[in-house]
Amino acid sequence: MAGNDASIDPTPTGAEWWRHAAIYQVYPRSWADADGDGVGDLPGITAHLEHLRDLGVDALWISPFYRSPQADHGYDVSDYQDIDPLFGTLEDADALVARAHELGLRLIVDLVPNHSSDQHEWFQAALRAEPGSPERARYLFRDGTGEGGLEPPNNWESVFGGSAWDRVAEHPDGRDDDPQWYLHLFDSSQPDFDWRNPEVGDMFEGVLRFWLDRGVDGFRVDVAHGLFKEESLRDQVRPEGAKGGATAGEEAGSMVERAALDEPMWDQPEVHEVYRRWHQVLAEYPGDRMMVAEAWTATAESMARFVRPDEYQQTFNFAWLLAPWSAEKFANVVTHTFDALEPVGATPTWVLSNHDVIRHVTRYGGGTQGLARARAATMTMLALPGSAYLYQGEELGLEQVDVAPEDRTDPSWLRTKDTDAPEIGRDGCRVPMPWSGDSAPFGFGPGTGQPWLPQPSGWGSLTVAAQETDPESTLAFYRRTLAARRDLADLPASVKVVVDGDVLSFTRGDLTVALNCGTADAALPDGEVVHASGPVDGTLPADTAVWVRG
Ligand code: GLC
Repeated sequence: MAGNDASIDPTPTGAEWWRHAAIYQVYPRSWADADGDGVGDLPGITAHLEHLRDLGVDALWISPFYRSPQADHGYDVSDYQDIDPLFGTLEDADALVARAHELGLRLIVDLVPNHSSDQHEWFQAALRAEPGSPERARYLFRDGTGEGGLEPPNNWESVFGGSAWDRVAEHPDGRDDDPQWYLHLFDSSQPDFDWRNPEVGDMFEGVLRFWLDRGVDGFRVDVAHGLFKEESLRDQVRPEGAKGGATAGEEAGSMVERAALDEPMWDQPEVHEVYRRWHQVLAEYPGDRMMVAEAWTATAESMARFVRPDEYQQTFNFAWLLAPWSAEKFANVVTHTFDALEPVGATPTWVLSNHDVIRHVTRYGGGTQGLARARAATMTMLALPGSAYLYQGEELGLEQVDVAPEDRTDPSWLRTKDTDAPEIGRDGCRVPMPWSGDSAPFGFGPGTGQPWLPQPSGWGSLTVAAQETDPESTLAFYRRTLAARRDLADLPASVKVVVDGDVLSFTRGDLTVALNCGTADAALPDGEVVHASGPVDGTLPADTAVWVRG
């Protein structure tokens, strides 16, 4: 490519680029659709990468694009070493990696090791094989309990609702007389591997190498606090009426509630041996490869165990995302994060939105106020030492969409919609990106039809094209913030946090960041305001953040 100054040299740099990176999550079904089938694809991503260069991020993480029946939209993988035809081909993946590197962007792929799809050849072979066979030993098959074995082996619940066990006899590909059940902490179509079987670890090492050989810069590891279960598979002890034994964390409300739960299905000590092995594999490759854990851990201390020097480079710090709009709560998260990570020498990560949670504009109340708060929280996050993860569409200020029941596709909705406790599901943060134009599909793909999840008719003013020309737009704000963030890279990697009433502030070298979570104007910190999330005129208005130098 002409004028390709930013191009990445894939030889070792020792720069540990991930320590101060802005990483943008692409949800491939919903970013850009090149072939016009209403679902995003890899050629669509490649064609739109300039958006990320112009935004000013360092890397992109792409949610799974592997061969998959799409029961959980790709988090149900049937072949870890191939691309689903819905998204393209391996050649398309190679072209995407190459183009990203040409543009100076690193590329992280998603790895799903806790479970496969029930269509994976190993699970299909296991269904055909006898109880006790080597094929069954790759997953967690057990006999049932109660009369005739008609009760599940234990009381664990699926994160998506209902029992975490299904009878083989009730699986479409199972035999009617099969006495066993299989464990799935997520959908019935996502059987959990038995990580105590070395074959599983060997298989995943091969998968890592397959993608590292193709030039990816790292992995986001799905459900990294999963994999191993307490060996006895004993019942979970949970208070009467408590919901979701197999909680993944995003539903647990807060780390404090989480810490009080008995969780024999999560965060077992054996998992760390796997990550030490993976660390070694990555280290064999040039170019500062990295991995980031999606580990919904119960405490900051347990989070820190994932980023010991010989394990993950990073782990998501979901406490930041779970915190409500409160100076004190935000301050607690920042303080606990540094306290927990400092002993292991890891740099923190920060995230406000992803494909599993309600978009942060909406979490903070929606509308004008929600957007003001979202910008302010984002600007605060982007000044904290460490890496920040952004989710597609947040740079446009998109809100959670209220997807009509008949259009919802999330397995957590499909599994619970007819129960007493229906879960609305995660479709509302996955509605395809609006790029241009006044009506659906807003440049998401060719044609005039609605994509796989319908876009709201009012999105015309939120498209990339519309916001690009407006200096007051959220897109312009993100670009300015990410550009200004580059000047912060050399500041100290620690902060001093102060809460004064409803104002959170922290200092980092000569930078002071202040965030007003209250309802009244507050005093501005001393110094020169170099960046603000909204209008600032002598005071710090409510729902506003500033960066002040000097
Ligand atoms: C992770 C993913 C989520 C998926 C689940 C099961 O939490 O982020 O989207 O449904 O794992 O793989």
